[in-house]
Amino acid sequence: MKQKYKFLIKRLLYYIYGEKFFKRLDYDWKKYPSRSEIIQKIIDSKKYKNYLEVGCDKDENFSKINVEKKIGVDPLKGGTLRMTSDNFFKNNNEKFDLIFLDGLHTYEQTIKDIDNSLKFLNDHGVVIIHDCLPKKIWNQIVPRVYGHWNGDVWKAIVHSRTYSYADTYTCIADHGLGIIFKRKNRDLLELKKDFKNLKFSEYYYNHKKFMNPISYENLFSVF
Ligand SMILES: C[S@@+](CC[C@H](N)C(=O)[O-])C[C@H]1O[C@@H](n2cnc3c(N)ncnc32)[C@H](O)[C@@H]1O
Repeated sequence: MKQKYKFLIKRLLYYIYGEKFFKRLDYDWKKYPSRSEIIQKIIDSKKYKNYLEVGCDKDENFSKINVEKKIGVDPLKGGTLRMTSDNFFKNNNEKFDLIFLDGLHTYEQTIKDIDNSLKFLNDHGVVIIHDCLPKKIWNQIVPRVYGHWNGDVWKAIVHSRTYSYADTYTCIADHGLGIIFKRKNRDLLELKKDFKNLKFSEYYYNHKKFMNPISYENLFSVF
């Protein structure tokens, strides 16, 4: 059966049995710079030398990044190393200035990738995570039921907002770029939750508190 029809059936089942919340956020991604432009600007302005990308696919971003040393990890295609992020971090002993996480888009894998990245991040570095701002419920259901899929990466951002030792923002650009620094949290989110079971309605109504959004124009002021 065609993917389109499979998704339609899955959406129908979700519509009956899943969360019923259909408000949308109105981000217009065309208005903002791309992930590649933002990553490159950070590398150039901070004089970063070591770059790691998790999840490279067709190297759409990886091939554009100009930096002294870059490693790309993907079990299927693209980058420089054919393996999962878990296997990479298990055997890694290098540190990086910028780590871009764009691998498996689930909460469970993303929070693991964030925790591992913080271990291998230089003190002045930054972790950037793609796809943190889904606009509607369908974009973030796991497993995927819709063409454009952000996954539930946003729940890992909410989780990381509760870390006292990491400072987390979400830059409003390119489907939402999580931005995490290894330093004391400047705006700790007090939330004790089973993060995987957060609802899209909670994300919608607590958007600022949960995601700590920051505009591209203000991004460099928090570095
Ligand atoms: C959305 S694509 C990456 C797109 C790319 N970063 C870009 O900016 O164009 C996601 C990629 O993550 C890879 N992936 C899936 N599971 C992974 C894992 N456990 N570790 C690393 N990469 C993974 C997939 O093979 C896929 O190529």
